[in-house]
Amino acid sequence: MEQYIIKGGNELRGEVEIGGAKNAALGILAAAIMTDEEVLIENLPDVRDVNVMLEAMSQIGVKVDRVSSHSVILCGENIGDVNIEYEYIKKIRASYYLLGALLGKYKKAEVPLPGGCNIGSRPIDLHLKGFKALGAKVSIRNGSICAEAEHLRGCHLFLDTVSVGATINIMMAASMAEGRTVIENCAKEPHVVDVANFLNSMGANIKGAGTDVIRIVGVERLHKTEYSIIPDQIEAGTFMFAAACTHGDVLVKNVIPKHLEATISKLLEIGCRVEEYDTAVRVIAPKRLSCANVKTLPYPGYPTDMQPQIGVALAMAEGTSIVTESIFENRFKYLDELARMGATSKVEGNTAIITGSDRLTGARVSAPDLRAGAALVIAGLAAEGITTIDDIVYIQRGYEAFDEKLRGIGAQIECVSSHREARKFTLKVG
Ligand code: EPZ
Repeated sequence: MEQYIIKGGNELRGEVEIGGAKNAALGILAAAIMTDEEVLIENLPDVRDVNVMLEAMSQIGVKVDRVSSHSVILCGENIGDVNIEYEYIKKIRASYYLLGALLGKYKKAEVPLPGGCNIGSRPIDLHLKGFKALGAKVSIRNGSICAEAEHLRGCHLFLDTVSVGATINIMMAASMAEGRTVIENCAKEPHVVDVANFLNSMGANIKGAGTDVIRIVGVERLHKTEYSIIPDQIEAGTFMFAAACTHGDVLVKNVIPKHLEATISKLLEIGCRVEEYDTAVRVIAPKRLSCANVKTLPYPGYPTDMQPQIGVALAMAEGTSIVTESIFENRFKYLDELARMGATSKVEGNTAIITGSDRLTGARVSAPDLRAGAALVIAGLAAEGITTIDDIVYIQRGYEAFDEKLRGIGAQIECVSSHREARKFTLKVG
């Protein structure tokens, strides 16, 4: 089983290039099958979730031509099956985006119910509410969601909870429904906007993405397009916090600063200097970080996907901080791992009280989920001594060449798959 092994204490310095947004890519890949013509997608992140999604798509007959690790040509002309196999949904929940895409195009789809995951139960009731409001019959049979409609007709829908997945899934189905659809209380994340822009580039008629009301006029057909995915603001934020936690100075390139406003604001609050450029941000860390309170919220609030990363920073800051996780019910598991490195925290419901300590020490820890795993890497980079991280397959779901990019800015980190390799690393770094 692969592990990351890290020798902490190096100040990260230099430049790092950010890849395409995983969470935009997953919606865009699904939407791409809604046309029978060829679609070229570029700036695709080469991460496990994307690769599994492409496998799920080729399994139903989509032509997948991976022209490079960061671009793919898709054609949904010969889809022979609208039933996605369980093994794919088990690997990535977001294969449920194929439900909205297939329902929109073929008025029929069958996708296994996604289970919960490590950060919460993650229901999809709002997705199904939207499909029903568009006129689909939705039933759960043998562990799968079956959705079917004679016709999909536009509707006026209010989402009870702000949901990225439900907004994207319903937007896809509605883009090929008859008539007008209004979705209120929508998610406004950059990747929701990216999926809407992608659909519009195929001839959809979607207005208002990025606000809390999206208006769609359904079209009969969608056509070919070439599209480049936006940079990943969560990957960018992760490197920004890695700089903050290692007293570093890092230029994070290929970003959209506007998407990082909440993250930048918190980095400033904990004592960092941040320089903003057109497509890059530079983070210069102080000698000691300051405490702060943070509450995760839907965009443009502080992102839940950046909560573990700031949690690690606050565990090393001067003073006591309060972190409130308002989106998911189980996103503090990394604090149990961090305690093994000397961090002090107390979790009460969806709030964590974190008392900063002036030093973390290396330990063997395990990644509980994707973003918590990335946060534990940051902790290892900041800690004294050697940290070994198990279950890094979670991290590889959403971070391309994570160890390589970190080495490029001075980290001593390697991906090892045996005791011998781990020993070699330890002897090398001394
Ligand atoms: C997306 O998940 C992201 N995943 C998550 O990123 C991210 O944390 C989340 O949005 C919030 O920003 C992808 O885009 C693939 P939600 P999603 O629907 O769409 C509740 C990562 O690290 N809800 O916005 O599943 C839900 O329980 C991953 O890259 C319902 O109640 O999140 C949660 O409390 C982790 N009913 C809240 O809404 C529903 O039908 C927000 O969830 C749907 C959601």
